[in-house]
Amino acid sequence: MYICLCNAVTDGDIRRAVADGVRTFAELQARTGCSDCCGCCEPEARATLDAALAQVTFPLPLITA
Ligand code: FES
Repeated sequence: MYICLCNAVTDGDIRRAVADGVRTFAELQARTGCSDCCGCCEPEARATLDAALAQVTFPLPLITA
């Protein structure tokens, strides 16, 4: 799904960027160009970035006793 129409950035592009080491929105913008034009995609781009970061940070379910 396209997140940023101005720069043709998809949710998959954002997940791949995170898998490649992107950790901040500024890094995502530098890597993909996302949200550097009209900016209307920024909320969705940030939400997609946060979700991707959560997967990287906690890739496995927590095991409780
Ligand atoms: S839709 Fe992303 S900058 Fe315009």
